[in-house]
Amino acid sequence: MKIISSIEELRDQLRGQLRTAFVPTMGNLHEGHLSLMRLARTHGDPVVASIFVNRLQFGPNEDFDKYPRTFQDDVEKLEKEGVYVLFAPTEKDMYPEPQEYRVQPPDDLGNILEGEFRPGFFTGVTTVVMKLFSCVQPRVAVFGKKDYQQLMIVRNMARQFALPTEIIAAETFRAEDGLALSSRNRYLSDDERSEAPALYQALDHVASAIRSGHLDVPALEQQAMSTLAQRGWQPDYISIRKRINLQAPSADDLAQGTPLVVVAAAKLGNTRLIDNLEV
Ligand code: PAJ
Repeated sequence: MKIISSIEELRDQLRGQLRTAFVPTMGNLHEGHLSLMRLARTHGDPVVASIFVNRLQFGPNEDFDKYPRTFQDDVEKLEKEGVYVLFAPTEKDMYPEPQEYRVQPPDDLGNILEGEFRPGFFTGVTTVVMKLFSCVQPRVAVFGKKDYQQLMIVRNMARQFALPTEIIAAETFRAEDGLALSSRNRYLSDDERSEAPALYQALDHVASAIRSGHLDVPALEQQAMSTLAQRGWQPDYISIRKRINLQAPSADDLAQGTPLVVVAAAKLGNTRLIDNLEV
């Protein structure tokens, strides 16, 4: 595997490649990330991964400084997956001058749910993803459903800008007890780790209730929030949304069986976890 940090060198290395499959990450790789590499391999060749902890998408009080950085481990894992190029720019490589131009997602998608609790987050994500796409020029790029809203925003961005990159969705990779793998899980204490699957269980409970015909959306959301709160969590939101645009379903939508997704974010101690489940 070639490890490249400069944009120029990356362009030289990938010149003429027409079927590149790209997986952007922030590193601290786990099985969820590696499942994306495997899916990428079935959609293109070569597979290019990136590791870049993108300052633009962290709020002033968020965990940019303490975000786990495990570069050597990550390199070994990617080698085993047959990744051809790892693009790992430094901050200076990626932002040699202050990034003043931004990609701005629309308010009705970018400022709801995660965007409401993390102002500017999605602008930071779309800006870096656009720039990474411009460097790698992939035919396809793989994103996880774990970050459902991010996947949708990136997909819409690619469509609206007519990017030549197809966005592929990968299923959420979970531990046996249901907890979605995440780099932030390593912040959890042992007790918190045992409690953490309660988030998935809450989602599962809401999803099963909807499937069996309980259509009182606000009641289901409220119940799930208070269940978590009683267990010591601080939930930001548990919300039943339409898969197509992440807006709240109308009574008609519910009656017609419109595809839904239950999305959630909650803090356990100092660790903020997100998850979702399609209904
Ligand atoms: P990061 O959190 O490192 O995630 C990189 C990719 O892995 C994302 O597409 C994410 O959805 C996916 N992923 C994470 N955990 C997963 C799991 N348990 N199952 C399946 N996929 C999972 O998301 C980012 O980085 C950044 O915002 C980025 C897109 C790289 C832009 O900076």
